[in-house]
Amino acid sequence: MKIKSICCIGAGYVGGPTMAVIAQKNPNIKVTVVDLNAQRIVDWNNKDLSKLPIYEPGLDDVVAEARGRNLFFSTKVDEAIDQAQMIFISVNTPTKTYGAGKGMAADLKYVELCARQIAKVATRDKIVVEKSTLPVKTAEAIQNILDNTGNGVDFQILSNPEFLAEGTAMRDLAVPDRVLIGGDSTTSKGQEAIQALVEIYASWVPKENILTTNVWSSELSKLTANAFLAQRVSSINSLSELCEVTGANIQEVAKAIGMDSRIGSKFLQVSVGFGGSCFQKDILNLVYIAKSLGLNEVADYWHQVILMNNHQRERFAKKIIKTLYSTISGKTIAFLGWAFKKDTNDTRESAAIYVADSLMDEQAIIKVYDPKVTSTQMQLDLNYLNTRSESENIKYLKTQIDPYTAMDGAHAIAVLTEWDEFKSYDWKRIYKNMQKPAFIFDGRNVLDRQILENIGFIYKGIGY
Ligand code: UDX
Ligand code: UDX
Repeated sequence: MKIKSICCIGAGYVGGPTMAVIAQKNPNIKVTVVDLNAQRIVDWNNKDLSKLPIYEPGLDDVVAEARGRNLFFSTKVDEAIDQAQMIFISVNTPTKTYGAGKGMAADLKYVELCARQIAKVATRDKIVVEKSTLPVKTAEAIQNILDNTGNGVDFQILSNPEFLAEGTAMRDLAVPDRVLIGGDSTTSKGQEAIQALVEIYASWVPKENILTTNVWSSELSKLTANAFLAQRVSSINSLSELCEVTGANIQEVAKAIGMDSRIGSKFLQVSVGFGGSCFQKDILNLVYIAKSLGLNEVADYWHQVILMNNHQRERFAKKIIKTLYSTISGKTIAFLGWAFKKDTNDTRESAAIYVADSLMDEQAIIKVYDPKVTSTQMQLDLNYLNTRSESENIKYLKTQIDPYTAMDGAHAIAVLTEWDEFKSYDWKRIYKNMQKPAFIFDGRNVLDRQILENIGFIYKGIGY
C-alpha cells in the first residue's frame, strides 16, 4: 500500500514539527494538519514565519519549503479525516485533574474524542497512528471504539511514539536515533499497515534505524525512555545536594562518571529540576499503571524520580530565601529564563514556575526576562497553579523585555533556563546596577563562576 494522503489531528509541539518533516521528505504525500484551536491554525498559516505558534530552531525553513506544496494546516477536521489514508493522533494527554487516577493517570478524553470522530467520518479503510504518548494498551481502547462505532470499514492501529526533544526537534526528526513502529504483525492487514508507515520514514531514515515491535512494546518503550532519561536527571540532582554539603563538585563527578562508556555523558547536567510536557506526566502515568496492577514496589521506585525533582525545585527556592537573610519580602529577584529548557517557548512544567511561586509566597517581586516566552504565558502558568489571585500574580511577577532592565536594582539573579545569550551579557555593568551584596543563583551552572566572583558577585551554583 502506498500512502498518498495523511491527516494529523493536533498541531502542537509534536504534530506540527513532525508533519512538517514528513511532508518535506515526502513531497508526493499530501499532509494536512488539523486542530480544534482555530487560532493555532491561523498562526501556522502566518506568512511571517517568525510568528509560527511554536518556536523551534530550523522549523521555519522546513515550513517555508513544504507549506502550500504538500503541507496544509486546516480546521476542517472531518474533511481531512475523510481524505486521508493514514491518520496520526497527536493531541495532548494531560495528567488527569479529576476522578479516578487524579494527578497521576493520563487523561485520554481527547484521544477518545479523536477515535470517535474518525469512526464517524470514515467511509474507507484507515490506518490510525498513535503519536501522542499513551498508557500501555490504549491502542486496544482505540480499536474498540473504532470497531464498535465505525461504518464497518477496517481500522489498523499503529503506535509510533515521537522521541524528539524540544529545542532540537528538527535535528531529532531529520536524523533520529531510531523510529519506533508498533503494530499487529500477526495479520496481513497489520503487516501492510506497518509497512506503509515504514515506507514513509524510509524516505529519509536508514531502514536499520526503523524498529518494528508489537503495539504494547512500542507504547511502553516511550514511557520507559522518558522515565530513564528523567531518572538520570533526578539521580545527578540528588547527588548535587550531597556535593553541596561535602565539598565535592558535581560537575567533576558528572564528568568522571560520564566517561564510563557504560554510563555515558548525556543527561548528567544538574539543574533546578526537569520540566517539559513529558517527563513528569509519563512517569506519573507509569506509576499509576504499576499501582493499578498491584506492582507497588515498581510504582514507588519510579515515583521517587518525581519526588526528587520536586525537592530540587524547592531546595533552590529555599536556598535563595535563606541566603537573602531569610527575608525577601519586597526584594526584587531577577529571573533569567522561564522556558523549561533553552531554544523553546514551551513553559509546561518549567521549574521557573514553581520557584517563582515559592518566592512570591514570601512576597518577593520577580522580574523575568526570557527571550521567547510572553508575559501572557507567564501569567497563565502562575494562574494555573491556583495559589493566589490573578491580580496578585500580576502584582508580584513582572515580565521584562530587556534583560538589563530586569536585573537593574535587583537583590539577586536566578538563572532558570540555560539560554546561550546569558553567558555573553555585560556582567560588570549588571553588577554595578544591582543591590549589594549581589547574589547570583545559577540553577543551570551555565555562567562562569570565576569571572563573576572576580567582578564581585556572590555566586551560588548547583552542587559545587
Ligand atoms: C505533547 C506530547 O508530545 C505528547 O506525546 C503528549 O501525549 C501530549 O503532549 P504536544 O504536541 O506537545 O504533545 O501537545 P500540544 O502542543 O498541547 O498540542 C496538542 C494539540 O492538539 C493542541 O493544539 C490542541 O488544540 C489539539 N487538540 C487537542 C485537538 O485538535 N483536538 C482535541 O480533541 C484535543
Ligand atoms: C523529552 C525527551 O528527551 C524526548 O525524547 C521526548 O520525546 C519528550 O520528552 P523534552 O522534554 O522536549 O524531551 O526535553 P529534554 O531535553 O529531554 O529535557 C527535559 C528536561 O530535563 C528539561 O527541563 C531539561 O532542562 C532537563 N534536563 C535535561 C536536565 O536538567 N539535565 C539534563 O542533563 C538533561
